[in-house]
Amino acid sequence: MTVIQPGIVGDRIQSNRVHGSLYTDPALFQAELEHIWRKTWVYVGHESEIPNLNDFVMKSIGPQPVLMVRGRDGVVRVLQNRCPHRGNQVCVQEQGNAAIFVCSYHSWTFANTGDLIGFAFPEGYRDHGDAEKKELGLGRVPRVEAYRGFVFASFGTDGPTLAEHLGGAAETLDRVCLASPEGEIEVTAGFLKHKARSNWKFIVENECDGYHPAFVHSSIFGVADSGIGGLYGNQSTALTRDYGNGHTEVDLRPEFRKTGVPLQWFGTTAERLPAYVASMEAAYGNERAREIMIDGTPHVMIYPNLFIAEIQLFVIQPLAVDLTVQHVTALQFKGAPDLNRRMRQQTMGSVGPAGLLLADDCEMYERTQRGVAARDPEWLFLGRGEQREYRDADGFRVGHATDETPSRGIWRHYAGLMEAV
Ligand code: FES
Ligand SMILES: [Fe+2]
Repeated sequence: MTVIQPGIVGDRIQSNRVHGSLYTDPALFQAELEHIWRKTWVYVGHESEIPNLNDFVMKSIGPQPVLMVRGRDGVVRVLQNRCPHRGNQVCVQEQGNAAIFVCSYHSWTFANTGDLIGFAFPEGYRDHGDAEKKELGLGRVPRVEAYRGFVFASFGTDGPTLAEHLGGAAETLDRVCLASPEGEIEVTAGFLKHKARSNWKFIVENECDGYHPAFVHSSIFGVADSGIGGLYGNQSTALTRDYGNGHTEVDLRPEFRKTGVPLQWFGTTAERLPAYVASMEAAYGNERAREIMIDGTPHVMIYPNLFIAEIQLFVIQPLAVDLTVQHVTALQFKGAPDLNRRMRQQTMGSVGPAGLLLADDCEMYERTQRGVAARDPEWLFLGRGEQREYRDADGFRVGHATDETPSRGIWRHYAGLMEAV
């Protein structure tokens, strides 16, 4: 068995097994905050959440609260939501429109660029605080970049560009946007939050684990009389793919192409969404529109925290070694009101408060977290499909729909991040 690298993780990550303590070690969680969440590109939000000048929305990078703001100049910034005076959280409103933020504790005032612009009772400061105004302000996350409206930020002042980080997985975000007649998605449906007493890495791995749906989700597949279960069966032609940099996908297109029925990915038919089909045909031409509607949107996990599950967008937020929040919203496609209405309905049914899908996954996350507390047999085996894994024309590792190609890719990337100096 190959040891990937010694160091913080020691020999706890091997080519086809990982040690259970990787999910329970509080010291490792603190190291992850430094090596991953405060260093690499992390998904923050979508530009459509702050369409107007001075719009803001409260977001997070790992456990840390941040504000995503569109300034008066139109520039999107990510600010740390912490007053430089005594550390108070400056903004407590989830979203809104404001040119300035006033700290509730002693009334220091900040422009939405982060600059400190005013004090209460300025006479108490030397020269009315001119020097402080230049020096103090809200912390700015140094690197902010967007791809197709998806805004990512990095606390690291150097390192790979966003394009380098996304690599081949950028094409999956293109595919999400293709399902809109206007080529754009919108994040406007509001977020549900689900807290799970589980390590965040179980959740990241589960997103492209095609081995579990046939068992964990059999009840919803039965109730909904859905064909989705078959996509994850032993006979499925669907694939798992490791794009590198921790990004992974379950590529269901081979199954949808086999039947060649538009909108099968969405569990509906063209007849039920005539307005959507017409606008897609007008935008892309009949043949291309048909191909796009057969293929559907991707099932992709952009490391470390953005998961697109065909019709939903999830953001994974670690709070502690054994506590994670999943923020989830229905994807909305610009120029597709009839599709969007059904997206919201299906989202409520599957991942809403009484939803039938996410509850099953959350139960597995918590049971797994409790399970790994027992230290014997210590290791988790991730060797499924190792012997049949291959490289596609682009050099990405590919496995069967039910193989653990994604988990192995995630751990390879994790080892590299955690061992980087
Ligand atoms: S803590 Fe913000 S003004 Fe004092
Ligand atoms: Fe699941």
